[in-house]
Amino acid sequence: MITAQPAISEEEGARRDALAGHLFESAQRTAEMLNVYLGERLGLYRALSAGDRITPAELGRRAGIDRRYAREWLEQQASAGVVTVEDAGLSAEERRFRLPGGHAEVLVNPDSTSYLAGLARLVGSVAGVLPELLSAYRTGGGVPWSAYGADAREGQAVTNRPLFLSELGTSWFPAMPELHARLQADPPARIADIGCGAGWSSIAMARAYPKVQVEGFDSDEESVLLAQTNAADSGVAFRTSFEQRDAAGLHPAGYDLITIFEALHDMSRPTDVLHALRRALAPGGSVLVVDERVHDQFLGQTDELDRFMYAISTLMCLPASMAEDNSEALGTVLRPETVRRLAAEAGFARVEVEPVESPLFRFYRLLP
Ligand SMILES: C[S@@+](CC[C@H](N)C(=O)[O-])C[C@H]1O[C@@H](n2cnc3c(N)ncnc32)[C@H](O)[C@@H]1O
Repeated sequence: MITAQPAISEEEGARRDALAGHLFESAQRTAEMLNVYLGERLGLYRALSAGDRITPAELGRRAGIDRRYAREWLEQQASAGVVTVEDAGLSAEERRFRLPGGHAEVLVNPDSTSYLAGLARLVGSVAGVLPELLSAYRTGGGVPWSAYGADAREGQAVTNRPLFLSELGTSWFPAMPELHARLQADPPARIADIGCGAGWSSIAMARAYPKVQVEGFDSDEESVLLAQTNAADSGVAFRTSFEQRDAAGLHPAGYDLITIFEALHDMSRPTDVLHALRRALAPGGSVLVVDERVHDQFLGQTDELDRFMYAISTLMCLPASMAEDNSEALGTVLRPETVRRLAAEAGFARVEVEPVESPLFRFYRLLP
């Protein structure tokens, strides 16, 4: 039986239609992003990146996938405008597809700051933990970061990697002249990189400042192993080290700089961590927190960055931080007011927001 809908005003009808349209578009885009996940994980974009025009059977052969799936995926990619089709009027087996100029950079060039295929892995990692998420929402428990698996770990790493490697030493740190000078000076600065993940921020600092010694710490064992491999492959293994450790247990080793890139909001007990970091600083040292450049306050309906961060928060960062007991449960949308409060509670005397240009990140210097 179909229930009669209550009468609504013209304005409410317009709102209903707008929301229905918005949700349909979101569903379509979510499904398209998961198709990017397939293309990335199965090497389909790499197989297309030679730039030639290929048939479904050729893609199947090159990437080692079934040709029927290859055909459907290519047609889907063409429908979404990711690949182009030479002559749509040919038979399905004869049609040739290619990645148009510019698209390969976004999909297969991990060195480019436009590279976004890793984001499909990060978002796609949520699919594997949906039952655990439902349960966490009901019980108030969490879903540990490690449960999101290699897709989250590696998706996060490759998304930030080009930013760290290209911006950190040329733009971000030079915008903080006193810090920049210290990292170039003698005696060589000691840096601790907290929540270092796959190590790309540590590697970027070691590369940008040839004197510094960087010690990376992460509570996730797999991330630490990845960081060690990445540092060795990047030729900076002799000036970097990586250790599995909860940052709250950091030894007071006299660091000139302690960094936390996109990780403070993931921590279950960030105040304890900041306490430990303050004690671990050398005289004159500071903690640099790099976190999301979200609005200063909650605005209700808002723009792309806050929207994205909220959507990631509910699915990933908040549940990951709530996986431990007595979590402060910050969530991804870490606002300046919260950073100031945490820093004050941890005994820091001052927080300065540094004049670093970045559409994604805000840079906070915590001074003891
Ligand atoms: C979103 S990832 C960021 C990784 C890396 N900094 C980057 O920007 O790509 C957050 C990282 O913080 C780590 N983490 C969370 N809580 C931690 C803690 N208490 N101590 C050390 N690492 C922690 C997680 O294991 C994860 O690798």
